[in-house]
Amino acid sequence: MTVWRPLLSLLGAAVIVGCARTNKAHETVLTFSGSALGAEGTLVAKQLKRFMQLHPDIRVELQRTPDDASQRHQLYVQWLNARVGNPDILQLDAIWTPEFAAAGWVLPLTRFSPASSEFFPATIAANTWAGQLYALPWFADVGLLYRRTDFVPKEPRSLGELVTDARQAMARAAGPRFGIVWQGARYEGLITGFVEYLGAFGGKILDDSGRVVVNRPEAVRALQFMRDELYSWHIAPLDVLTWHEEEARYAFQNGTAVFMRNWPYAVGAMSDKTQSRVAGKFAVSPMPASGEPNGHSTAALGGSQLAINAYSESPDAAYRLIEYLTAPDQMLERAQAVGQYPTRPALYRDSRLRNAIAIPPDDARRAIESATPRPVTPIYTELSEILQIELHRALVRQAEPQDALNSAAERINALIERTGMRKLMSAPHNAPVPAATSTPSRTE
Ligand code: GLC
Repeated sequence: MTVWRPLLSLLGAAVIVGCARTNKAHETVLTFSGSALGAEGTLVAKQLKRFMQLHPDIRVELQRTPDDASQRHQLYVQWLNARVGNPDILQLDAIWTPEFAAAGWVLPLTRFSPASSEFFPATIAANTWAGQLYALPWFADVGLLYRRTDFVPKEPRSLGELVTDARQAMARAAGPRFGIVWQGARYEGLITGFVEYLGAFGGKILDDSGRVVVNRPEAVRALQFMRDELYSWHIAPLDVLTWHEEEARYAFQNGTAVFMRNWPYAVGAMSDKTQSRVAGKFAVSPMPASGEPNGHSTAALGGSQLAINAYSESPDAAYRLIEYLTAPDQMLERAQAVGQYPTRPALYRDSRLRNAIAIPPDDARRAIESATPRPVTPIYTELSEILQIELHRALVRQAEPQDALNSAAERINALIERTGMRKLMSAPHNAPVPAATSTPSRTE
C-alpha cells in the first residue's frame, strides 16, 4: 500500500508528541489534528492561538494530517486501533462518525450538552449514532460545478447542455484542452461525484428503507453517462481517473478545463491572480440534472466534523476547543479566509457571509439543505471501497456498467448481512441500538 510509509512516520510523530503532554504544572496539552495546508493552516493556527489566550491553562499543538480523505481515515484507524490518546481532537469526514462511534473510538458529546439545534439537521444526523451525538459539524462541503465564464457565459441547465457547452468551448481556437475535470481516482472523492450523477438520473445507493438499489436502471444510466459521455468522447481526460481535488483544481486554475466539479474551498486559490490564470473568469453553480424523470440537480454532502478521541486524557478541555472552533465567529472567519461553508443556518442571514463565499448565501444554504448525504452507517468505509472498485472497473472498461453495479450490489448486500447491519439500516439511524446488536466487525 503506497501510503504505508508516510503513515508510519506520522504515527511516530504522534507518539513523540504524546510523550510531552505535561510540560508545566497545571497546563493541559491538547493535540488538534486536521488538514492544515496553506491558507487553512494559517487560519487554524490563528484560531488556536486566540483560544490559548482565552485559556492560558491549555496549550494546543497542531498536528497536520493528509488532505486525502481516504489517507486520513487510514491514519486515524491505525492510531485508534492502537488506543493512542493523541491527537485529542479528530477532524472527521462527514461519513466516518458512525464507524468511529460504533468502534468506541470517539466520545459521545451528550454530557457537554451541545447546542445541536443550531446546526443544519443533516449535519447533525450524519454525526449521530445509536441516539447519541458524537461530533460537531465544523464546515459543510457541497459539490459545485465551476465553469469558465469566458467560454460558457450561462450555467448549463442539464447534463446534455454541459456536454454540448464543453465540446463547443474545446473546439474553439484558444479553447481549453479538457471539457470537465473532477475527482476520479479510486478513493472517496469518486463516490461523491458518483452520488451527484446518480441524483441527476434519479438513482440512489440505498433507498429509504436501507435496501441496496445501486444496480437499478437509473444508476446504470448515471454510470453509463460518466463512462460514455465524459470519458469516451474525451470531454474528461483519462488522467482524471487518477486525480483528487488538488489535481483537478490545478488543471482548472491553469486554464486547461472548461468545467470542474469540486468543493467550495477551490474558489479562494482560483480567485488569486498571483497563482491562477482564471481569476475573474469563472463562476460556480449546482451540478445540473440529466433531464430524465425523477432526476434532480444535487450536490454530495461533505464536510468536516470535530470529535474527541475516546482515549484522550483531557476530554473536557478538548470539548472547550471544539465548542470554540464551531462557534459562529470562528465559522464566519473560516468562510472569509478559506471560503468554507458554515454549518450554522443562522449565519446565512449574516451580511458578512455574502462577500466571503462565491454564491449568494441563500443559494449556498439551499444547496446544503438539498444535498445528498452518503449512507449513514458504521460500515460506510467498506461499502464505499466496494463501490470505488466497481465504479473504476466500469470507467476503465474492464466491466460493463450494469455488471459492475450488479457486482457492487451483491457485495454490499453480503457486507450488510455479514455485519448484521440489515436491521439497523432499515431503522432510523439515530434510534438507540437494540441490545442484541453487536459492534460491526472491522476489516482494517
Ligand atoms: C471533501 C469532503 C468530504 C469528502 C472528500 C472526498 O473533503 O468534505 O466529505 O469525503 O472531500 O474527497
